[in-house]
Amino acid sequence: MPLVLMCGFPCSGKTRRAEELKTYFRENGQKKVEVVGDEALCVDRNSVYEDSQKEKNVRASLKAEVERKINRDDIVILDSLNYIKGYRYELFCLIKHAQTPHCLVYCLTSDEQSSSWNASREAAQQYNKETFEALVQRFEAPDSRNRWDSPLFTVLSDDTLPFEAISEALLNRKAPPPNQSTQSQPLSSSNFLYELDKMTQDVLTAIFNAQKTSVPGDSISVPGATEKISITRSINMAELRKLRRQFISYTKMHPTENTGQIANMFVQYLNKSLL
Ligand SMILES: *[C@@H]1O[C@H](CO)[C@@H](O)[C@H](O)[C@H]1NC(C)=O
Ligand SMILES: *[C@@H]1O[C@H](CO)[C@@H](O)[C@H](O)[C@H]1NC(C)=O
Ligand SMILES: *[C@@H]1O[C@H](CO)[C@@H](O)[C@H](O)[C@H]1NC(C)=O
Repeated sequence: MPLVLMCGFPCSGKTRRAEELKTYFRENGQKKVEVVGDEALCVDRNSVYEDSQKEKNVRASLKAEVERKINRDDIVILDSLNYIKGYRYELFCLIKHAQTPHCLVYCLTSDEQSSSWNASREAAQQYNKETFEALVQRFEAPDSRNRWDSPLFTVLSDDTLPFEAISEALLNRKAPPPNQSTQSQPLSSSNFLYELDKMTQDVLTAIFNAQKTSVPGDSISVPGATEKISITRSINMAELRKLRRQFISYTKMHPTENTGQIANMFVQYLNKSLL
């Protein structure tokens, strides 16, 4: 039973992604796909995650549930925060013991985005501010250089899940030998993707706000970039978003070592695209 570990901030889309995966596997001939998670345990998020003992118990129950469901044929998806490095390591030991592959799906969001998704949830599913902030602060992002965090699939909110790659990793891959070294994947470096997501969003916001007071032809300075952007016409948010998506796709294929350059690269890209 291959294991998929979801990971991400509170309200980062883990449950939605888990459902998408389940549907995909079902449609592609996997008879049994089980989702184990906070949802199924009817966890009251706020009271659990603000009490470390309760949280420990929930983690232990989830792990026990995963262990119980382990077998050769079914896929288990653990849909929980899974934000503690040591916990992910324990789960890795468990799957190693069961001789079955696993992978991580990391839903990468900014805290602003997650917080706004929280607001649109029904009341019982919402996190209060204190719990949310404490979780974001404690969050230990996965790192594909750790063998227990690998293979790692990082998805941004607009991404389509890489279904085939995940399926390949789970179903066609042998269980990892105990100390196989994994090759480093710059693309999965969560920090890089996080910066990419955040900085391009900040640039968009700056341009959008500047346009309220500027006239075409003005130079607009944007956070993180040394060069200003000159915009010769007014551009709406939809167009900016589309360019941002294109830039992100391109940059994911050609990641830069230097995250400090992302804003400048994006400015140049916009400058060229908006001529
Ligand atoms: C989540 O939404 C509720 C209701 O709008 C709000 O009281 C709470 O502060 C929100 N939490 C965060 C982290 O934004
Ligand atoms: C795997 O472990 C064995 C025995 O402990 C060791 O000899 C070998 O060098 C290790 N291989 C890697 C890739 O770490
Ligand atoms: C933007 O494009 C113009 C015209 O090609 C160029 O002169 C200018 O240096 C560019 N600015 C940036 C920040 O790339």
